[in-house]
Amino acid sequence: SSSSAVAATAQSDICRVTVIGGGQMGSGIAQVAAMKKHQVTLVDVSQEALDRGKGYMSKSLKRVAKKKFPEDAKAQEQFVEEALSHVSLSTNALASVGKAELVVEAVVENLKAKQEIFSTVAQATPDNAILASNTSSLPIAKIAAPLTLPQRKRFIGLHFFNPVPQMKLVEVVRTDETEQKTVDDAIAFVKGIGKAPAVCKDTPGFIVNRLLLPYMMESIRLLERDVASARDIDTAMKLGAGYPMGPFELCDYVGLDTIKFIVDGWYKEGAGLKGNKLFESSKKLDELVEAGHLGVKSGKGFYDY
Ligand code: 3HC
Repeated sequence: SSSSAVAATAQSDICRVTVIGGGQMGSGIAQVAAMKKHQVTLVDVSQEALDRGKGYMSKSLKRVAKKKFPEDAKAQEQFVEEALSHVSLSTNALASVGKAELVVEAVVENLKAKQEIFSTVAQATPDNAILASNTSSLPIAKIAAPLTLPQRKRFIGLHFFNPVPQMKLVEVVRTDETEQKTVDDAIAFVKGIGKAPAVCKDTPGFIVNRLLLPYMMESIRLLERDVASARDIDTAMKLGAGYPMGPFELCDYVGLDTIKFIVDGWYKEGAGLKGNKLFESSKKLDELVEAGHLGVKSGKGFYDY
């Protein structure tokens, strides 16, 4: 019937997913794929890093389970176990991509590191597999540059948001070389894991960060000009604009080092952004990062934790 044909096209053909990088983002991506019964391999350089990634997944899965099965400890436990049973851990990237239909890279924001990973694993990845980066600030085309043309046609950005299990959006970022089938398959995968895709060209910040970073930097400058306290600016944006977090809560949540790294990169060499004052770092941000006050993860940022 026509309705089953529609269902068949909406369904993702991707089942085997390899996620490279077991940090907050990578383990979140592995988790959401596993919750939809994909066969996931999570790769990192050490067993210690993998154990940490598994810890992130367990903790977040317990949170999801509590909501799904309130007052039923047994069902909660089963849900967590079931999801984790779809994830295998590996320190061998090459051995983990041989049967992958999708490889998602979520390692540190370092162009060389990402290029090296893809140059290595692309040799062992099946010819029809999608290669994807979760970069938030580096050009997708640059990450793919060392690859062959057929590999670059299958290369795409899949940009998830923190916390991955909760945030519904995934930016699907196409380069000039990404083929339409890759875009279509990526969209189907994103929908299949219960997320909403937003397709975007390969430009600095894509959609969300292109708008979010100027907002964050303008908030910091507002504070520097002593217009209001961080607390009052946060209250204003939460209650006056309906944002779930105020800009300083969000900066601390994302990490001040991350924010500085992103704006510095774009200010110095972002395509179309170079020298744009919206992306100039500020004294306050520089000082906090210099002092190691990076936000929630270091116990102190604009606020104390
Ligand atoms: N795993 C699973 N579920 C989680 C979770 C996690 N790690 N973190 C939060 N949740 C769920 C909670 O269980 C809860 O679910 P419910 O509403 O269905 O009961 C829901 O999220 C809300 O959590 P809380 O009640 O504990 O707390 P808040 O209401 O304050 O929400 C928040 C927390 C979801 C983080 C919310 O404050 C928010 O949306 N903040 C903005 C986050 C944001 O903007 N992220 C994008 C950052 S930019 C980025 O990532 C791009 C990068 O490239 C820089």
